[in-house]
Amino acid sequence: MFTTTLNPPPSSPIDLFTALENLKKELNAVILAHYYQDPDIQDIADFIGDSLQLARAAAQTNADVIVFAGVHFMAETAKILNPEKLVLLPDMNAGCSLADSCPPDQFAAFKAAHPDHLVISYINCSAEIKAMSDIICTSSNAVKIVKQIPVDQPIIFAPDRNLGRYVMEQTGRDMLLWQGSCIVHETFSERKIVELKIRHPHAEAIAHPECETSVLRHASYIGSTAALLSYCQKSPTQEFIVATEPGIIHQMEKFAPHKHFIPAPPQNNCNCNECPFMRLNTLEKLYLAMKSRSPEITMDENIRVAALRPMQRMLEMSV
Ligand code: 13P
Ligand code: SF4
Repeated sequence: MFTTTLNPPPSSPIDLFTALENLKKELNAVILAHYYQDPDIQDIADFIGDSLQLARAAAQTNADVIVFAGVHFMAETAKILNPEKLVLLPDMNAGCSLADSCPPDQFAAFKAAHPDHLVISYINCSAEIKAMSDIICTSSNAVKIVKQIPVDQPIIFAPDRNLGRYVMEQTGRDMLLWQGSCIVHETFSERKIVELKIRHPHAEAIAHPECETSVLRHASYIGSTAALLSYCQKSPTQEFIVATEPGIIHQMEKFAPHKHFIPAPPQNNCNCNECPFMRLNTLEKLYLAMKSRSPEITMDENIRVAALRPMQRMLEMSV
């Protein structure tokens, strides 16, 4: 069997940054990174964003190679939009508990049991689930999209029950919710957030809609990662308790260096507010993926074409 050996990534951070910049030029590659990535990955990325911004960036790029510093469903989304491009995910184990909470066979049976329902799926799902959906949404546009659906049209919302419940409250719509959730956003402790608010009386709590109602009710602002970032910049408040993955705090501190950001604590004494899947990506793995042009995202073309339609509907409905 033919095997290739790769030189290990440079050990000095400066050499590694330089090597990554050179590889980007050599491959005509773009590095797209989610806000939950480690700060050094955010700093080397060509584009940082929330799920909607990253999907738009993937739809618009002229690069030949997309290196996705995020999780599997995000890289899959880039591939759905760019079948002709090489899409690399530095660690194929970078999955998502929320996407995993919606197995395609079980969802197919659920959908078949409710044939009159329109299926709106949160982008945090597999290509197979997207292919079974009518419209995709993200945490930035879920409310906007649901508001555009005629009121007499029954809706299945999958897979995140917390985002689904939040959208129901915001729109006054009843929806049939798939009971999935994210292990990171369900880890925050309501009691510890209340204690923090008592110790920091001028701090505002802000939260991602993937959090449970018990956490959302203490938040003065709820939004996607990009919306939370923009809110912190604009708000006159100087101190924030941030109930989402703490990777976002890197950009918050960059955009508002004089403000103070406190990560909302998890229930246990652990780092479970950090997404274990996002954190699998490292600069070294980015280097190895670009050098070897693998691991590459591939998918069945029938699934890709079926998943593209609801993605395009989302992009049209969220302009
Ligand atoms: P957004 O990128 O839409 O804020 O969602 C956060 C998330 O959990 C991504 O996995
Ligand atoms: Fe999935 Fe939650 Fe990690 Fe986002 S934070 S990638 S929803 S496990």
